[in-house]
Amino acid sequence: MAAPLIARNPIFHTHRFTLSSSFRAKSISLLNFAKMEGSEISEEVVEKAQDDLSVKKKIFVAGATGSTGKRIVQQLLAKGFAVKAGVRDLDKARTTFSSNNNPSLQFVRADVTDASDKLAEAIGDDTEAVVCATGFRPGWDLLAPWKVDNFGTVNLVEACRKVNVNRFILISSILVNGAAMGQLLNPAYIFLNVFGLTLVAKLQAENHIRKSGINYTIIRPGGLKNEPPTGNVVMEPEDTLYEGSISRDQVAEVAVESLAYPEASYKVVEIVARPDAPKRAYHDLFGSIIQA
Ligand SMILES: NC(=O)c1ccc[n+]([C@@H]2O[C@H](COP(=O)([O-])OP(=O)(O)OC[C@H]3O[C@@H](n4cnc5c(N)ncnc54)[C@H](OP(=O)(O)O)[C@@H]3O)[C@@H](O)[C@H]2O)c1
Repeated sequence: MAAPLIARNPIFHTHRFTLSSSFRAKSISLLNFAKMEGSEISEEVVEKAQDDLSVKKKIFVAGATGSTGKRIVQQLLAKGFAVKAGVRDLDKARTTFSSNNNPSLQFVRADVTDASDKLAEAIGDDTEAVVCATGFRPGWDLLAPWKVDNFGTVNLVEACRKVNVNRFILISSILVNGAAMGQLLNPAYIFLNVFGLTLVAKLQAENHIRKSGINYTIIRPGGLKNEPPTGNVVMEPEDTLYEGSISRDQVAEVAVESLAYPEASYKVVEIVARPDAPKRAYHDLFGSIIQA
């Protein structure tokens, strides 16, 4: 009989050595990665190894009590992921998810304006990917967008580096690069930047992510709606869309699906929904975007 898969494969050997049992969830990704890269590992053995690990992938969601964040949490749980919901207010989180007593849902306090060390503790060493769905809450602090949408996201990325999390999904916005797109006079660009340069703040954070080396998917949705979807997802490359809207349910879906498809890695995607758009599979949507 052939030697066990992990013993035979030198790549696995290295990772097995460096990843302790607390990183078992991450090793599932390595299995998938090996499968993707077309190594000699058979599909059957990979599936078996996944079963043996019997660990759910754990995803940290920042901004989990937000309108998009809570949908991301719900969809992740429905897909069988374990979720660490990063929230500012634990009581609010318990109320938000009061109808969901899924044992795979865990709440942890996480204010993205805290130092990255503290956020790293919240993310922990058992997390495989971080989804950031934060956005400043309007108030008297004019610097809030800069603190939350720029520095907050940067803090989260730095925290990921500290605990070796190498997958980061950001919910950003279309028009973040509106100035470069010739959209300086677009009312949405003006409106959003009047409040503390929100789009400029988000663009700064995006640039940090892109330079960080982390495997990212930056999702830039159009105007967000709470209503259920009324059209199919249209996905375009960065700096393409300057109008349109999309249901938060679909934004959450794109975020969750981006975890499943290698075609989503290292990409910036802009999304809206249109009733006349054809329904396309996610590997096709992500695959159609050229890596930036
Ligand atoms: N509104 C639009 O049409 C639109 C369009 C395109 C993109 N976007 C972007 O899409 C994202 C999601 O939007 P949304 O409307 O669904 O969000 P939202 O309902 O406003 O939720 C924002 C979330 O961010 C959290 N948050 C705020 N400050 C924080 C901090 N310092 N630390 C940790 N968490 C913090 C909030 O926590 P609490 O619940 O504790 O307040 C909340 O969970 C945002 O980045 C937004 O800018 C919005």
